[in-house]
Amino acid sequence: MNVSPLQKARYQFKPTLPSILQTDIEKIGIEYGEQTESADNQTKMKELFSNTYGRPTVKFTNGKSSHRDEPVNIGVVLSGGQAPGGHNVIAGIYDAMKAANSKSKLYGFLNGPAGILENRLIEITGQYVDQYRNTGGFDMIGSGRTKLETEAQFATTAEVCKQNSISAIVIIGGDDSNTNAAVLAEYYRKQQIDISVIGVPKTIDGDLKNEQVEVSFGFDTATKTYAELIGNIQRDANSAKKYWHFIKLMGRSASHICLECALQTQPNVAIISEEIEEKHTTLNDIVDDIVKKVVARSVHGENFGVVLVPEGLIEFIPEMKTLISELNTLLAEHETYFSSLHTFEDQSEWINKNLTRDASYVFSTLPNNIQRQLLMDRDPHGNVQVSRIETEKLLIEMVEDNLNELKAEGKYHGKFSSQHHFFGYEGRAAFPSNFDANYTYSLGYNAYLLISFGLTGYISSIQNLSAPADEWIAGGIPITMMMNLEMRHGKMKPVIKKALVQLQDTPFKTFAAKREEWGLKTSFTYPGAIQYYGPDEVCNQPSRTLTLENQ
Ligand code: FBP
Repeated sequence: MNVSPLQKARYQFKPTLPSILQTDIEKIGIEYGEQTESADNQTKMKELFSNTYGRPTVKFTNGKSSHRDEPVNIGVVLSGGQAPGGHNVIAGIYDAMKAANSKSKLYGFLNGPAGILENRLIEITGQYVDQYRNTGGFDMIGSGRTKLETEAQFATTAEVCKQNSISAIVIIGGDDSNTNAAVLAEYYRKQQIDISVIGVPKTIDGDLKNEQVEVSFGFDTATKTYAELIGNIQRDANSAKKYWHFIKLMGRSASHICLECALQTQPNVAIISEEIEEKHTTLNDIVDDIVKKVVARSVHGENFGVVLVPEGLIEFIPEMKTLISELNTLLAEHETYFSSLHTFEDQSEWINKNLTRDASYVFSTLPNNIQRQLLMDRDPHGNVQVSRIETEKLLIEMVEDNLNELKAEGKYHGKFSSQHHFFGYEGRAAFPSNFDANYTYSLGYNAYLLISFGLTGYISSIQNLSAPADEWIAGGIPITMMMNLEMRHGKMKPVIKKALVQLQDTPFKTFAAKREEWGLKTSFTYPGAIQYYGPDEVCNQPSRTLTLENQ
């Protein structure tokens, strides 16, 4: 591997653990909290998780450990999209297990959960782990999106673990993967299979968050990376004064990334999908709002600006939601006939005939390229792939049309030139910020301790994250505590509640109090690149969202 100077320097970085985890591992004890209940639907959840429900929260304290004298073999798997810090979770598990017993072994399942099902794994040695400390990406063992959900798959995982003498699995993933970790833990207990399952909260989207999990790892680094890029674009825009930049940001349904980037960079517009849904804002309303800002700024000669658009926006716009849902049903029910229509014209004619009147009207008002995307990009279940729809381009086209009308009526005299961007992959494999490097190493170290105390169905939990790392609190939360029942593919399923942006919380309120001013005046902030070395205020600040949530 050709190693950059920064990568070399990062190998030497020693992540800070919460002070309790800095203690000699033999002297770390455990304190059990109260019995827990699930987030909702308690009776049904108790029934579904009869072997793992209601366990207490735990906290690590000074005391005596109950580490088994026997060495253990642990398997670790990375699941889903990359998030900065995944390698440090693995390094944390490795260091803790070796500190407890040098004969213990860590195995990495390759390319996600499929690696467990297909018995593809490697032993993670000290030399191997050292090449990945404090680095981004998941390339150490790869990742994948195979879901572990069926009993047949669970039985296979048990067989594979038996073959490799693995007695614990650490699943590093988002809400779905941690839900599946809880179901797998329950299955093993029910079948009296002695394998522990521990989850670790990962996702740049920031939507795996609740009272127990303050933030998922990766959010901090990814948003700092996007904020750097947005800041650079803002400065470019403010220099040349000739473009409006429309920037779509990853994050799936939730707008946490968009909100955090707005708080860091103070753009002219940042759309928050959750607000659009709550206020039943239409696509035309969104466009009108942007147009007003473009016109108002043009009066002062400011024919430039920045608009942030969350990836999931389209699903939250009421009339688009209805259209997408009708399209999903139509395309699924008439798949064969629809695929026999070869030209876009034939397809859109058939679609228009079969949609309800309102949906057909919305469809017909969309620009041609968006209509095509709605019909062409579908997932394996036949659903429209909303994240592929180029919302940033849709908004540009609609804003442009409106401005042309205003110009014709003599109500707008500015110039409108636009650029579009989509930021997502740029941030998912960045070198983890110091926050994420410390957090992920602690999560991994902590995950080993949960295993060593014989726990299963727990998520590794590090709390008090807005304080310096050595003041963080280490422990574990039963995953069922974060779960409730939700409708999935027509059936009620136990799942971890996804956290969307809450309009009554301080991060959104802080943004809402300022956005009018940011919209009209040029108030850009330029965060610059993530710094790994230097004063605390430059390189050790948590995200604005986390700070505001804890004020
Ligand atoms: P996870 O939920 O797996 O953490 O995914 C994060 C994410 O980056 C989303 O923001 C984005 O919509 C998606 O992954 C993109 O997925 P893919 O890598 O499959 O293109």
